[in-house]
Order: sequence, then C-alpha cells, then structure tokens
Amino acid sequence: MTYRANILVIDGDETAGEALVRALVRAGYRAKSVNEGMRALSEIDRVSYDVIVLDLDAPGMPGMEVLKRIRESDPASIVIAMTAGGTIDAAVAAMRAGARDFMTRPFAPEAFLEAVAGAIESRRCDLERAVTDAGEAEGASEYRIIGCSPAVLRVADLIRQVAPTDSTVLVHGSTGVGKELVAWNIHRLSLRRDKPFVVVDCGALVESLFESEMFGHAKGSFTGAIDTTRGKFELASGGTIFLDEISNISTGMQSRLLRVIEEREISKVGSLEKIRVDVRIVAATNRDLSREIREGRFREDLYYRLNVVPIYLPPLRERREDIPILVEHFLSRAAIGGRACRPGISEEAMRRLMEYDWPGNIRELKNTIEYAVVTCCGEVIGPGELPIAEPPACGGGEGLNGSLAQSEKKEILRALERSGGRKARAAEFLGINRKTLREKMRRYGIG
Ligand SMILES: Nc1ncnc2c1ncn2[C@@H]1O[C@H](COP(=O)(O)OP(=O)(O)OP(=O)(O)O)[C@@H](O)[C@H]1O
Ligand SMILES: [Mg+2]
Repeated sequence: MTYRANILVIDGDETAGEALVRALVRAGYRAKSVNEGMRALSEIDRVSYDVIVLDLDAPGMPGMEVLKRIRESDPASIVIAMTAGGTIDAAVAAMRAGARDFMTRPFAPEAFLEAVAGAIESRRCDLERAVTDAGEAEGASEYRIIGCSPAVLRVADLIRQVAPTDSTVLVHGSTGVGKELVAWNIHRLSLRRDKPFVVVDCGALVESLFESEMFGHAKGSFTGAIDTTRGKFELASGGTIFLDEISNISTGMQSRLLRVIEEREISKVGSLEKIRVDVRIVAATNRDLSREIREGRFREDLYYRLNVVPIYLPPLRERREDIPILVEHFLSRAAIGGRACRPGISEEAMRRLMEYDWPGNIRELKNTIEYAVVTCCGEVIGPGELPIAEPPACGGGEGLNGSLAQSEKKEILRALERSGGRKARAAEFLGINRKTLREKMRRYGIG
C-alpha cells in the first residue's frame, strides 16, 4: 500500500484544468479539477487534499478570497497559486496569504510537476514535524513514530484523525513493524490519555481463565477466589484496551469477546451483576485474518466489529526511505542509554542497512543499532560492526555464507509468520524438526 498524494486543481479554464489533472494522474497522483472557487471550497470541506492548485483568475469569488478561505478551512494543505500575466506584487500577496508557491501562465508541464513535487515534499515535512511535535510535547521521544515514507505519514495522519474518536481500530502488520507503538499513540493522542492503557497479550490467554482474566471474578466464585478481582476490561475503564495478537484466541473466546463488544457490558465470574464498560478497543494482528476466517479459525462477525478503522503498517523493506531517519533516532537513543557521545555511522554501513531485508522489521533495526553502539570502539560504526548478514557477495565465500544465512533467517521468519508463531507448525512448513528450528532461531536471535 503506497500512499498517493491527493491534489485538487481549481482552474477557471475547464479544459486547461483537465489537462493538468491528466498530467498529475500520469505522474502517479490522485487528482480532480473544479472550475470555480465556491465549488472548490465545498469540495475541500468534504475531502482532505494534500495540495491545492489555485487559479487566482477563476470566475466567481476573487482568487485571493478563495485562498484565504482555503487556509482557514484546511490549514494543513499546501497551495500553489497560479495566474496569467502575474506580477511580482501578485506573487508576494499570494505567498503572504499562505500560498507555498506561485506560477505564471503559460508554464511547461515539467515546471508544474516540479512545483507539485516540491509542495508534496513540504507537506511531508509538515506532517513529520506534527507527528514529532506531538511526541516531543509530552517528552515522549521513545514513543514517537519516526519515518518519512508516504506509508508512515499516512499512518500518522490516520492516527491523528482516529485518536479523538472512540472508533475501534485494527492494526495489521508483520512482526516488529510498530503495531503496539501505533496503539499507544492512538491512546496518547486521545481524550482518554489520562486513563489507563491496558495491554492484553491474547497469545497468553488460557481458555479456562479467559473470563476471569478479562472480566474479573467475584469472591468465592471458585476454589482459590479469595477476593473479588477486576479484569482487564474493568482495569482499562475510561481508557484503552489493546488486544494484541487477537488471532491467537480460540473461537470460544472470540464469541465471548464479541458479546462484550456488542453489549459493552461485562459480568464477573460468579456474579450476575452487569457492569458497563467504557473502553476504547484497539486490536492488532500479524496474521492475514481473511485467511484465518476462510480456514474457520477466526469469526467473521468479530472481524467486522474490530476492523472498523484498519491501519496497515508495511514491512520495513517496503519503505526503505525510513531507514536513515530511524537509524539516527536509534543512534541517539542508544547513546543516551549508555555512551557519553553518540557514534556516527559510515557510508558503507548505512548502505548495508539500506540494502538489508529486515525480516524482523523495526525491532530488528533497533536491536542492530543498539548492538553496534554498545560494541563499537571508535567514533564511527563501520559495516563490520553490524550484526547483520553481508549482502550477496560478488565472489567472496564469506559473503555467500552471509547471504545464505540471511535468506535462511528470512525463511524462518516467514514460516513463523505463516504459522502464527507456532514453532511446531513452522518447523513443518520448513521441513525441519523442532529442535533444529529452535537452534536456528537462537543462532539468528529470533524470539
Ligand atoms: N516508526 C517507528 N518509529 C520509532 N520506533 C519504532 C517505529 N516502529 C517501531 N518502532 C520500535 O520498534 C520496536 C517494535 O515495535 P512494536 O513492539 O510496536 O512492534 P509490533 O508490531 O507490536 O511487533 P510484534 O508483532 O512483534 O508484537 C519498538 O521498540 C518500537 O518502539
Ligand atoms: Mg506487538
């Protein structure tokens, strides 16, 4: 899933507007044109645009007035103003009123696309800063979602939109991509931020203790129930409950969970009293739930209850542009943790980090940097100090071993992903026995 920027063109000349839209679509953007200011304003009310191209000479409302209103109703969008026979004064006035760029007609399509690309870049930086600021404001840099890829910025955008609502969110993505970090940020930026954030590791839930763990139990309800206890739902009251690895619970537990989500009421084991629960639910999964549904392991109705707002985090290898900024972030954090001064990273080491496949995603990158910072003797981390396999070598035996190791590790992680973390099944997929799998996992630092 790659995010395509959304662009609105406001052009008094309908044919010219359509030509600009065609050029934008050809360049890979989503784009739409309208030929008049008022229509543009109602469009902006409905849809959020990353970039707005505004013809100051469009009929109806004066262009500068349209610009002013765009800035008021969607201050985050970037405006490129254009006019025929533009003067310096008009350009200055438009920029003062909040346009990021100014173009005088006629212009070459390349110049137009360049201006749009520049606008998108600054929108990206704005978003990045907004995500960063939200973290910084609360002194929570370790909880910040770092990244500049369109996918991450889109996720950051979604988090900000969904956080203040009570909508249920389902975070999808493979191991180590940042699912829990997303859940925490939804809570942190929500109105529930001063209330608890309760994590439930669904993989660790035992069928017989499910109700008691989740809903609590009344004193004397079973042998050993010496006190009345509160379950996870009650503990999360007013706050957020994070149901991690939701696909790991049995269909029986799924039905009981579904009932709570529908009724928003629980009763403790051994008690008939109904207790209303006010919690926001965020769930996460690293499995393909549609397959789990097809294969009868996951209830479809529960899926629809949870997947109200889906958030997908792509693997790191599909958003490599995030690697340098993540490396910088982890270098600074690791340095705060241990060393007095933060080491740098050599060009060759960075190249290797960019080329590596990252089967363990951001967690693996974080551990790699921490390891390198701890073991690095000099001021700069070189490629030899990275605990990751060599890239495919041109002839060198060692490199070949490295790349074999890398693909073996990748296969193991894929098998674990397919088996939902069940080692016995993963070993079956790989055609090796469980003991060999355990040994290989230890060797590659998995699990
Ligand atoms: N975009 C990001 N910016 C900064 N840190 C990140 C980012 N994404 C993940 N991390 C860090 O990487 C580590 C793994 O993230 P997290 O635990 O959220 O992943 P996960 O998807 O829940 O993994 P798993 O499926 O294994 O439970 C954490 O230390 C987290 O803080
Ligand atoms: Mg997790």
